[in-house]
Amino acid sequence: MSRIFNFSAGPAMLPAEVLARAGDEMLDWHGTGMCVMEMSHRGKEFVGIAADAGRDLRELLAVPQNYKLLFLQGGATLQFAQVPMNLLRGRGKADYVLTGEWSRKAVKEAKSYCDVGIAASSEDGNFTYAPKQWKVRPDAAYVHYCSNETIGGVEYHEVVDVKGIPLVADASSHFLSRPLEVSKFGLIYAGAQKNVGRQGSASSSSARIFSATRPGARRRSWTTSCRPRLTRCSIHHRPIRSTLPGWCSSG
Ligand SMILES: Cc1ncc(COP(=O)(O)O)c(C=O)c1O
Repeated sequence: MSRIFNFSAGPAMLPAEVLARAGDEMLDWHGTGMCVMEMSHRGKEFVGIAADAGRDLRELLAVPQNYKLLFLQGGATLQFAQVPMNLLRGRGKADYVLTGEWSRKAVKEAKSYCDVGIAASSEDGNFTYAPKQWKVRPDAAYVHYCSNETIGGVEYHEVVDVKGIPLVADASSHFLSRPLEVSKFGLIYAGAQKNVGRQGSASSSSARIFSATRPGARRRSWTTSCRPRLTRCSIHHRPIRSTLPGWCSSG
């Protein structure tokens, strides 16, 4: 068998042992006589897989206990809307850092929901650098930035101090590629298909780390749809009974 080297910005190479194990489990997952894709999403086997995924992610990223993990559908793109829908909390302003194509898309979407301020921009340099001086409005509900702009390759290696305002990061491009100081963020989200999942179903899901306890970021539920609002997912320690295609959970 000849394998190629694939450094795609989307799904890239996986270890051969991982692929071989997935292949082995395709017909019979752990003696159940079923493939994971054939299981009930409410059955104990799948609920167990979901719980393991949450535990593993929490351990890998050293996520503090006062943070919630949400596995959601819709990819990182849907978070461009869900972030303002959930984090404005009655305020009319949010600040964004503009460093390339993905943050530009996030800004465009947020403008449907609030007054968007540009806290910093590298547009003057054709998005070739990551500005470190941010001008954040004290009454902004949150500050959003893309910690690694996939297309231009502009990456932040340090977390900018935003003086207590909830910091939101689109970490799609380097999620789990290195440790993150989660406690510095109000919210981190990432499309799972790049670094942690597979394309296809995973391209419509995003792993999101959400602080449920920090002042200003406290919420009991997370709206999981775009306009019109279709459903709200409460934060439970079990998979959410969602009628949307795919699977949502939190833990
Ligand atoms: C930094 C960044 N944000 C957002 C997205 C959009 O992700 P998705 O395809 O999951 O909507 C991408 C993806 O390609 C990305 O690289």
